[in-house]
Amino acid sequence: MQEIKRTKVVDALRRTDFGAEVNVRGWVRTHRSSKAVDFIALNDGSTIKNIQIVVDPAKFDGDMLRQITTGSCISATGELVESQGAGQTVEIQCHELKIYGTCGSDYPMQKKGQSFEYMRQHAHLRLRTNTFGAVMRIRHNMAIAIHKYFHDHGFFYFHSPLITASDCEGAGQMFQVTTKNLYDLKKDADGKIIYDDDFFGKQASLTVSGQLEGELGATALGAIYTFGPTFRAENSNTPRHLAEFWMIEPEVSFIDLNGLMDLEEDFIKYCVQWALDNCQDDLEFLNKMIDKTLIERLKSVVDESFVRLPYTEGIKILEEAVANGHKFEFPVSWGTDLASEHERYLVEEYFRKPVIMTDYPKEIKAFYMKINDDGKTVQGTDVLFPQIGEIIGGSVREEDYDKLMAEISERNIPMKDMWWYLDTRKYGSCPHGGFGLGFERLILFVTGMQNIRDVIPFPRTPKTAEF
Ligand code: 4AD
Ligand code: MG
Repeated sequence: MQEIKRTKVVDALRRTDFGAEVNVRGWVRTHRSSKAVDFIALNDGSTIKNIQIVVDPAKFDGDMLRQITTGSCISATGELVESQGAGQTVEIQCHELKIYGTCGSDYPMQKKGQSFEYMRQHAHLRLRTNTFGAVMRIRHNMAIAIHKYFHDHGFFYFHSPLITASDCEGAGQMFQVTTKNLYDLKKDADGKIIYDDDFFGKQASLTVSGQLEGELGATALGAIYTFGPTFRAENSNTPRHLAEFWMIEPEVSFIDLNGLMDLEEDFIKYCVQWALDNCQDDLEFLNKMIDKTLIERLKSVVDESFVRLPYTEGIKILEEAVANGHKFEFPVSWGTDLASEHERYLVEEYFRKPVIMTDYPKEIKAFYMKINDDGKTVQGTDVLFPQIGEIIGGSVREEDYDKLMAEISERNIPMKDMWWYLDTRKYGSCPHGGFGLGFERLILFVTGMQNIRDVIPFPRTPKTAEF
């Protein structure tokens, strides 16, 4: 007998050719038995929805049916029929069942309503739950939206290296890459490690950002974007930080500060609208189970103009709040970096919409940002989002060779690592700018999840690299 072709559950649920023979395969969510009839809810990951398999127990071996428990993997063949029950439009009147893999009662995802901390300890199996299925399908959809947006707007997908010898953000948060024997390191008279005989002949690390190479691409191809993993050895145990996260970094020639903010706003709204248009079932599930205001919040971000706020004005607002009795944990004054409580006050309480903050004091930003005429502030932009805080960091770049050089020496950035970057300013320099969007922060926003560890399949954080 020829095996009939498998139909994905997402497709089966849309079919209306009742009476047709269909085969579905997936993992059992629940199996309810009674004397007259068995109901199996089957999910194959193609959609949040299950398909109901209706089984006449008289027609099957009882021992076999008893092995079909939550988590087991089966193949079911039968007639597609219009469903009488509430909650589904079609179901399968089963006449053939096959068990691929049974699943014992020690299955860690058995019980509903486990804590997210418990799920993280079982990250290899949590993907089979409704919540993580929904998050992963949305994550995929956001990646597609990002490529589509940039492709449609004439940006080229540009691959910056993951192994690098320069520290883009200058924050010293890099993971080293070496083939040297760590138990037997060659050192000079001052006790410094000699890297001559290391794989790359110099100290190398995993990249914290593809921006510097992205600028080389943009000043040749006009507009590029990177989309890849980045690594930061910052010891931040927060629900917003990962040691390995994905970043999207567009870089554009001939763009000014207003153009950059327009791009940031348009791009992020496109991604959120994409989720609303393409991830309806998963969003409805998350809206019900995780965050009752999720869909409303997504819609409001698409509809609203982002506030554009110079840092100096932002500080004034925060100082006024303090004067009026608002309590912050950290002090706020011109020149200090904003803490997340300050960002959230501006976004969630004061303006109640996303804020693009600009023109930061140069001391609290990276060396490459364009210096304003006041000599004190730089054309950096952070996009601040409700619930998330900083979702994008970007800037117009300093394109003047001498000004950039001055900044590099003032900050003691080793010149030998930067010669190739400075060549962009030496040969046909041009105004340009770009930004970095933290992919997982976008997924946090779009899913309503609370912890960044729950929007990437296998999170890397301080002291955890399991799976
Ligand atoms: O603000 P950042 O550090 O900017 C840059 O790396 C620039 N080179 C980008 C550019 O202009 N091309 O990082 C950009 C974004 C942040 O706004 C945040 O969303 C995300 O990357 N991000 C992190 N996400 C998760 N875990 C971390 N440890 C993150 N650090 C930054
Ligand atoms: Mg930043």
